[in-house]
Amino acid sequence: MIRKVEGARGGFVLHTRRTTYCMRVTPAGLMEHLYYGERLPHVTGDDLEAMAQKRAFEPGNSIVSARGEELEVQEDMRLELSAEGKGDIREPFVTVCHSDGSRTSDFRYVSARISDKKEPFGTLPGSYTEDGKAEHLILTFRDAQYDLELELHYYVYADCDCICRSSLLRNRSSEKVTVERLMSTQLDLDGCGYVLTSFGGAWAREMERKDLILEAGRAVVESFTGTSSNRANPFVMLSTPGTDERKGTCIGLNLIYSGNHYETAQVNAYGSTRVLTGINPRGFSWCLEPGECFEAPETVMTWSGEGFTGMSLQMHRFVREHIVRGEWKKKERPVLINSWEASYFRITQNSLLRLARAAAGVGIELFVMDDGWFGERNDETSSLGDWRENRKKLPEGLAGICRRVNELGMQFGIWVEPEMVNENSDLYRAHPDWVMQIPGKPHAEGRTQRILDLANPEVVAYMTAEMARVFSSANITYVKWDMNRIFSDVYSPCLPAERQGETAHRYVCGLYRMMQSLTEQFPHILFEGCASGGNRFDLGILSYFPQIWASDNTDAICRAKIQEGYSYGYPMSTVSAHVSASPNHQTLRRTPLDTRFNVAVFGVLGYECNLPDLLPVQRREIARQVSFYKKWRKVLQYGNFYRGRSGNLHEWTCVSPGKGKAAGMLLQELVRPNTQTEKYYAAGLDPAARYHFTREAKALDLLLFGDLVNTQSPIHVKQGSTLHKVIAKIKSMPGESEDLHVSGAVLMRAGVHLKQAFGGTGYNDQVRYFQDFSSRLYLMEKEE
Ligand code: DGJ
Repeated sequence: MIRKVEGARGGFVLHTRRTTYCMRVTPAGLMEHLYYGERLPHVTGDDLEAMAQKRAFEPGNSIVSARGEELEVQEDMRLELSAEGKGDIREPFVTVCHSDGSRTSDFRYVSARISDKKEPFGTLPGSYTEDGKAEHLILTFRDAQYDLELELHYYVYADCDCICRSSLLRNRSSEKVTVERLMSTQLDLDGCGYVLTSFGGAWAREMERKDLILEAGRAVVESFTGTSSNRANPFVMLSTPGTDERKGTCIGLNLIYSGNHYETAQVNAYGSTRVLTGINPRGFSWCLEPGECFEAPETVMTWSGEGFTGMSLQMHRFVREHIVRGEWKKKERPVLINSWEASYFRITQNSLLRLARAAAGVGIELFVMDDGWFGERNDETSSLGDWRENRKKLPEGLAGICRRVNELGMQFGIWVEPEMVNENSDLYRAHPDWVMQIPGKPHAEGRTQRILDLANPEVVAYMTAEMARVFSSANITYVKWDMNRIFSDVYSPCLPAERQGETAHRYVCGLYRMMQSLTEQFPHILFEGCASGGNRFDLGILSYFPQIWASDNTDAICRAKIQEGYSYGYPMSTVSAHVSASPNHQTLRRTPLDTRFNVAVFGVLGYECNLPDLLPVQRREIARQVSFYKKWRKVLQYGNFYRGRSGNLHEWTCVSPGKGKAAGMLLQELVRPNTQTEKYYAAGLDPAARYHFTREAKALDLLLFGDLVNTQSPIHVKQGSTLHKVIAKIKSMPGESEDLHVSGAVLMRAGVHLKQAFGGTGYNDQVRYFQDFSSRLYLMEKEE
């Protein structure tokens, strides 16, 4: 609910189900931020007055920007909007270089409008509702010295306790101005000492969690890769010290944007904390002609008093309901097989069909032909841009292989990388001016490919049409949209020198136009975003594509950490995760098939390995996995996800919305000797209900026990010998089962004591083989 509080001390109160956000207009027309936190019952003008700052005299050595009824010292105020030049020396929300060269702005409140519509911006994606209705507050400010108008937009999503903010700057003057920064959100918090948590890393190690205590100075989380980046994801959290998964207060913030982003938290001389989020001002500038406006992307923010998990659950719900859209929003996602780690570039119709037949045999529903199918694409040095099938590899063309895959009872999907071009391509030879480059100067390269200049509308139109041609040339129901290098030599040959600061943002807007057009033309296609894995995992992409390839690292142990990182800000239905070969191709680590599966099911499951080369027993196990996942995927993709313990043990639970079903996972990185006793703690269940807690026993390969075979064998067996292998074929080791009837309260609060783990002192079916990289999936089903 949005409420305007009338009167001299009036302001605005935004309520979600469990949170409240308050601000008031000062007599001189600034918007003072008053409160963001647990819901306040009914806020009156007197309440706003009580929360407002009081000041009779200025602090020494500060600037007073207005006197009169209230003394205005911006440096020590909590503001919804700050600019440069009037005494607020912290980082500003907006910086404009005026035609006279000044950078001083003085935005004062003019009016407010409350609407019940989501009024989308023209250049950027944003949050949405199915019926187009949304509680929307627009505050308009006018620069007291220059004829500029600034709007602050607030959208209230009461159902998931989220508020979105964005801004728009309009040039009403007759002079051209340069926008040097326009942020999306400013949150001035009381006090300091908050913990800023960010998630970043690098290729193959995305979303590592980093905590920083904000005592003084400025912390910055940013990307300058042209993408939202694996170095620093735009999702951040601010929490009070001591916050954990279940208790403490936490604010989650995420920008709906796929380019260079910026999140900063600054503690000022008076010990308060300013948080800003928006487009990275580094390298950015925008010429605003008279009458034009510039739109800043939306930021979503959510507050929870129930720890990180409380915040995550709200954010997940928001992303599922108000970001992801289209036919696939709530549809169960198919289990796929992807050809990349099976064959890389070395594909032929025959090898692909061999993989497809094995996939069909284990119940996989979708076959994805990854890189290597077009032009002369035999390695990464050529053909990006030439989106015609290679007839040597695919003699029957795209339509032919698609038809054959369909005949196996599977859907067919392809890989594309539409934003890129190799110099060794017909497209580059025909249009060398279509790439991002400084004319006449040498340029740097990444993966021997160049970035198409999506700041150029002609390039966007061409590639949109090319992709539409490819997508309609066969019965394609899935597209993996990749993007494999970061920006360098940022320059758009189609823009004049004074507009080069616009290139990176114009690129993102061009990309959005392409994605919008193609998702509208092909609403039935399931699109999956990808950028060398997780180099562009953000809410901008998710506004078009419902899922994203989370990392090129498919090692289950790394993936547990990576997926745990994503889970803070993104729901499981957006995270695609594959079971791959062992030893793993990125780490050469060997992990059990079970563990690779158990981690990948907490997301959108796929397989990416040479299925036909696996042993029959492994393929039978995969068939069992796929059939289990089909039964449980609704819970696993769309359920509520709870992180439990994290570290050497990873403890996860995913619960169906009605709390009727839950799947829990316990994963151990390295075994500690003689830790035979362990518990599993569930979360999110109905405490009053009773659940059937199960784990089906699974036989184990005798070879896993190595030389210990000799403790039972009447004759000596040399480890690894043919005899050892023959015995292992005939005899397996029993695995433990769990079968308990437990209340939700016990499962969550006391935990279930699991069967004793192997500790070198004996083994039978009452013992849990839980060695390095072992894991378990436990199922919980509500009993009548
Ligand atoms: C990077 C992706 O993340 C991989 O999954 C694969 O599609 C390759 N690109 C193909 O070049």
